[in-house]
Amino acid sequence: MIVIAGSASPKLAARVAKQLGCPLAKPELKRFPDSETYVRVGAEFGGEHAVVVQSTRPPVNDNLIELFLLLDTAKDLGARRVTAVVPYFGYARQDKRFKPGEAVSVRTMCKLIERAGADDLLTVDIHEDWIMKNFATPAYNLSAAPLIGRYLAKLKLHDPVVLAADQGALQRAKGVAVEFGADHDHLEKTRLTSTKVLTKPKRLDIAGRDVVIIDDIISTGATMVEAARVVKRYRARRIYAACIHPVLAGASLKKVLAAGVQRVIATDTIEHRTSVVSVAPILAGAIRGSPWAA
Ligand code: R5P
Repeated sequence: MIVIAGSASPKLAARVAKQLGCPLAKPELKRFPDSETYVRVGAEFGGEHAVVVQSTRPPVNDNLIELFLLLDTAKDLGARRVTAVVPYFGYARQDKRFKPGEAVSVRTMCKLIERAGADDLLTVDIHEDWIMKNFATPAYNLSAAPLIGRYLAKLKLHDPVVLAADQGALQRAKGVAVEFGADHDHLEKTRLTSTKVLTKPKRLDIAGRDVVIIDDIISTGATMVEAARVVKRYRARRIYAACIHPVLAGASLKKVLAAGVQRVIATDTIEHRTSVVSVAPILAGAIRGSPWAA
């Protein structure tokens, strides 16, 4: 087996290769003057299983094109099987037609990844689990919630509560909380006017307690900022923000911290300075345990 490091996930790819005890290929990547992507994998695969690790984080389109090139080239260079590891799956939030005539972008991305040569795919906490049904080939969505929970356990939080940023993320909050015996709840959204939304904890009293707000993605930070403000209003002791995918666009990290959050804790599905939890163990475990691994 050979792990191929996409340029969006160099550290994660190295961690996965280490866990699997297999070589790591670091492709050469250049831009042509007209912005096209040049990739040279520089290895032959002679019947090996190639594992391409490439997050489709921003710049999403460039990282997707690189992923397609790596998958296709690995096959072309003789890989027996090619696994796409896409720890953060870009375009996943455009998973339906919200307005008539819109592209269902994530469905198109699934088709393109398969067409480029992926025989199977692993991702982590994709926005909605049912997106995986778009793949005809084996495709698995792994949860990083237990890894975040185990990290939080080491922080020795005071009477901790894990709060999902919305009801849809309650299972994720539970998956985090159960790892260190914390309570969990979710924030409730109430539409006050056509534009204004107030969130509050659904059932738990959080006064004087350390609160971890969990979401799948922090992108602009708007959701987390609003959640932190509410949690502060309900007199939480310390506030932590945790997410699987730290997209953290622009000045969002600053905004989240300014809203009263002590620390942002994230995974390396997107490599960022907040990425203190690695998803390498669950990826390596899934690859090792898969029926096609050799
Ligand atoms: C929404 O459905 C997601 O779970 C996140 O809450 C959202 O993507 C976060 O985005 P932002 O940081 O821009 O509020």
